[in-house]
Amino acid sequence: MIDELRRLLGDSGVLTDRADMAPFCTDWKNTSHGAAACVLRPKSTIEVAAIMRLCHQAGVPIVPQGGNTSMAAGAIPDASGGQVVLSLSRMNAIRAVDPVGMTIELEAGCILATAKAAALEHGRLLPISFGAEGSAQIGGVVSTNAGGVNVLRYGMTRQMVLGLEVVGADGTVLSGVRHLRKDNAGYDWKQIFIGSEGTLGIVTAAVLRLLPKPRYVVTALLSVPDPQHGLALLKLMQDELGDAISAFELISGFSFGLVEKHFGAKAPVVGDGWFVLLEASASVVGLREGVEAGLEKALTEGIATDGVIAESESQTRAIWALREQITEAELKEGRSLKHDVSVPIPSLPAFLQDATSALATSFPLAKVNAFGHAGDGNVHFNVLVPSDVGAREINRVVHDVVAAHGGSISAEHGIGSYRVAELAHYRSGPELEFARHIKRSLDPLGLMNPGKVLAPWD
Ligand code: FAD
Ligand code: MLT
Ligand code: ZN
Repeated sequence: MIDELRRLLGDSGVLTDRADMAPFCTDWKNTSHGAAACVLRPKSTIEVAAIMRLCHQAGVPIVPQGGNTSMAAGAIPDASGGQVVLSLSRMNAIRAVDPVGMTIELEAGCILATAKAAALEHGRLLPISFGAEGSAQIGGVVSTNAGGVNVLRYGMTRQMVLGLEVVGADGTVLSGVRHLRKDNAGYDWKQIFIGSEGTLGIVTAAVLRLLPKPRYVVTALLSVPDPQHGLALLKLMQDELGDAISAFELISGFSFGLVEKHFGAKAPVVGDGWFVLLEASASVVGLREGVEAGLEKALTEGIATDGVIAESESQTRAIWALREQITEAELKEGRSLKHDVSVPIPSLPAFLQDATSALATSFPLAKVNAFGHAGDGNVHFNVLVPSDVGAREINRVVHDVVAAHGGSISAEHGIGSYRVAELAHYRSGPELEFARHIKRSLDPLGLMNPGKVLAPWD
């Protein structure tokens, strides 16, 4: 089969050397390690379809991979050495940017930051933003339905997808590369692939919606005594600025402490409780005045205790760097267990309190690194623990509190291989059976990213 694949893709399209394959078999945290039979690097949808047909005939499992930035080890093969990694990175063309129709058509391997820069060259905004945007690829972003810091204003990736091209498990090409805002012609099949984490098909191209680039962007960093005051600030700012708020990130003092310890960067506001990074954007004048008025009210009413507004591009970058460096600082600090959870927005403070005290009771040595997209009810409740503490036990303590608050055990990172057991535990039987039904219909041989999202069935 490898010989046939080489004939199909050329020598550079098939990696079999262990050292060459190593980066494709380990996640960015260096905690999940697998082994692949080979790594395939097609250059076109036709090649992807041929690979899928071959694997289907031979019964070989496929692990699709984009930028390999998954937070849930979703793109790593298992340890058997029998799975094939299908990397989309050589299919990275920007096929078209349409500033009038406000769309961008991209191949799956295009890096998100490259796509955003191409849109900006035309005065258009692709508002999907997160720390790994310099490595994550469009196919991965679509397949994880990525969230990030602008969801509050623009929605998840799903809201940006107008068209998709997908190659199914048997090599069938579904061509839905349409630039349409309105398309109710039958079932909207692309929705089933968005967020399916490579378990149903291979995304080979996408058409994404663009927006006009806002003329004014104001970034502010504030300190608040606790998460409850953080939500009061959100309400106050929403009353003041309406939908101009494009990011509202709540960050614990512990998170900024990690950034200071590992990067030497200090928050430019006084406070030892919590922090809020707020971004507002609009094309009408008066945005800055609005933010200033909101900030003044918040300080007068004791909702915030200190605050700064960035005065320059470099100050804006410095404030965002403090936020984006949290993940790397956490990695440098040692072992951490990620909990990417969401609860209804008003329940966020109670969730934080309940989960923190539940952990303190069961695992007194655990430290909580909590930060995230409070404007979406999504917090990264990451737990730093010594290596002898079991991940499963910690996950259960946190996720039980999530369930008690009517929340989700994965707000934006997906299930991957990390949370398969947790999904099976917390999702209801009929919902899981419906998911298995979809999986069986689209991937009857169970070859698409096995062991991710759903537990294998007999
Ligand atoms: P990969 O990691 O390669 O793959 C992710 C999943 O998609 C896997 O299941 C894989 O099999 C599947 N897949 C990949 N490409 C395809 C394809 N073409 N067709 C079918 N399936 C495919 N995520 C957020 O949502 N919000 C954040 O704020 C956020 N911040 C992050 C910050 C950092 C520092 C890091 C490292 C990650 C962060 N992430 C965040 C997670 C990650 O960046 C996203 O999940 C991203 O969308 C994954 O893209 P990728 O190309 O790296 O996909
Ligand atoms: C982020 O928002 O920075 C990431 O999604 C969170 C993480 O590192 O857990
Ligand atoms: Zn996040």
